[in-house]
Amino acid sequence: MSNPGALDLAAGLGGKIEKNDVLSAVEKYEKYHVHYGGAEEERKANYTDMVNKYYDLATSFYEFGWGESFHFAHRFKGESLRESIKRHEHFLALQLGLKPGQKVLDVGCGIGGPLREISRFSLTSVTGLNNNEYQITRGKELNRIAGVDKTCDFVKADFMKMPFPANSFDAVYAIEATCHAPDAYGCYSEIYRVLKPGQCFAAYEWCMTDSFDPKNKEHQRIKAEVEIGDGLPDIRLTGQCLEALKKAGFEVIWSEDLAASSPLPWYLPLDKNHFSFSSFRLTAVGRFFTKNMVKALEYIGIAPKGSLRVQDFLEKAAEGLVEGGRREIFTPMFFFLARKPLVESQ
Ligand SMILES: C[S@@+](CC[C@H](N)C(=O)[O-])C[C@H]1O[C@@H](n2cnc3c(N)ncnc32)[C@H](O)[C@@H]1O
Repeated sequence: MSNPGALDLAAGLGGKIEKNDVLSAVEKYEKYHVHYGGAEEERKANYTDMVNKYYDLATSFYEFGWGESFHFAHRFKGESLRESIKRHEHFLALQLGLKPGQKVLDVGCGIGGPLREISRFSLTSVTGLNNNEYQITRGKELNRIAGVDKTCDFVKADFMKMPFPANSFDAVYAIEATCHAPDAYGCYSEIYRVLKPGQCFAAYEWCMTDSFDPKNKEHQRIKAEVEIGDGLPDIRLTGQCLEALKKAGFEVIWSEDLAASSPLPWYLPLDKNHFSFSSFRLTAVGRFFTKNMVKALEYIGIAPKGSLRVQDFLEKAAEGLVEGGRREIFTPMFFFLARKPLVESQ
């Protein structure tokens, strides 16, 4: 697929929200967050509304900047961002030991970039679970274009209450998605339930690291910027994710913050000091162009009112992510591989 252009960005902006309601949706979204006086409990209680508003507003920007896969990657020198994103996806398939014909679940699948890549890479059938209607509509179109619509499908549902019978899948993965769950234990318990006994769940989690000091005002500011810029109710510590996995019944086979061993920083594409032609739209200069383009499109009425405000909170996210990465207090790639035991303990 070729990269979407400015008009695609404007047309998709707001997702399933009526164009005239985009500005009020932005205002409601912002009010959930610390910068606008919002509280964690309220974000957790209203996570479906908060997260869906975020993805209705942000998806066309994501597609414009990132392409079809909405996640970061462990980076090697000499690799383009696109290559490292695919390698990051292949790594999950390898860790899960996927075999041709297996039934796999992608939890929080976005518009299905990873799903299409993993399914073709491993010859598996992947079901994408997502609670955002607009992303599913886009994902179905892209599956058709990629020719994987017979082997892969999408299900619209909340990953806290999955509509699948117990023991349905041979493997489950989640890429930078379960961080939206109001409670990790609730989400991992659902994954545990739908996974067949003896099979594995692998994920890249967004987490605060052990270097995060909850009393440090700068750390709090960075965390709040990432939360508003990325539609998160709260960002958990790596240890809290491991505890939640064990409480849900999983055996953790191994876990590691892959950011720590990444030869190039994962946040490089967003770093103001970095420039790249191949990921130009994500660079500070590219974002500056996008901002002015969105401003003009909104002014002449092609993009809905409120579009520039979305660009603003996404800019906040970029700044928070780079600062969090540089200070090593935040990671988008806390990796774990966990198994549902063959025989459950009583
Ligand atoms: C950062 S995107 C990552 C998408 C995809 N994994 C990728 O890497 O391209 C997070 C995804 O999680 C989905 N999501 C968030 N909360 C959800 C929920 N409660 N149930 C199902 N999906 C959810 C969002 O709609 C979005 O598609």
